[in-house]
Amino acid sequence: MLFDDVVLGRRSCRGYKQEPVPRRLIEEILGLAMRAPSSMNTQPWHFYVITGEPLDRIRRGNTERILAGHPDSREFRKGQPFAGAHRDRQVGVAKQLFSAMGIARDDKDGRQDWVLRGFRQFDAPVCVIITYDRVLDGSDDTPFDCGAVATALVNAAWSRGLGTVINSQGIMQSPVVREHAGIPDDQVIMKSIALGWPDDSFPANAVVSERKSLDEAAVFVGFEG
Ligand SMILES: Cc1cc2nc3c(=O)[nH]c(=O)nc-3n(C[C@H](O)[C@H](O)[C@H](O)COP(=O)(O)O)c2cc1C
Repeated sequence: MLFDDVVLGRRSCRGYKQEPVPRRLIEEILGLAMRAPSSMNTQPWHFYVITGEPLDRIRRGNTERILAGHPDSREFRKGQPFAGAHRDRQVGVAKQLFSAMGIARDDKDGRQDWVLRGFRQFDAPVCVIITYDRVLDGSDDTPFDCGAVATALVNAAWSRGLGTVINSQGIMQSPVVREHAGIPDDQVIMKSIALGWPDDSFPANAVVSERKSLDEAAVFVGFEG
């Protein structure tokens, strides 16, 4: 696939076929992703690639804790709730997704089902947890590097016909993930990526999210014209 086709065609997938993904293919994708640049080539990332019974235990543990009202226990700083333009964009993509799924604004059960789907990793056959070495905690370069490798991973997956969705929902109940994935204490849990063969009949998979304009994003300095 051409680079442009990968980047322009990729979108987050939230519905998957119940078919396994060969380990060799995931290894190939991780190998491509790990060509991502990192601060001083430190490569702070680790990947926990989870499927089958351990992933089902994570789905169950996440769901139980969410329904029991356990607070968010992600292991990195979250910042303030979104406001202004950021909030507008957050609401914008949520509206696109709910509209595609036919979930009305006042459909509490439908919304709850949708949220729980995220905590089940969208029922994907595979989940990749990205962690980083705790000794690097405190440097903003480290989450930046994890973002770089995650972006490379989702594009590499798409180039092989696989769908993904980077998500925080999968790591919000971090003790569950830590226990069932066997993550040691000297690593910080950063992000989760659900991965699998996209179910093309799942309406939300067709959603193409919007982007702000180049004029809003970029300032060109020193150019003529
Ligand atoms: C750091 C990060 C966290 C995200 N968390 C979630 C999440 O918890 N649940 C979800 O459904 N999507 C999540 N997403 C996916 C975004 O909603 C999605 O990337 C964005 O709306 C742009 O859409 P696209 O990926 O289809 O281009 C996350 C993406 C990133 C990069």
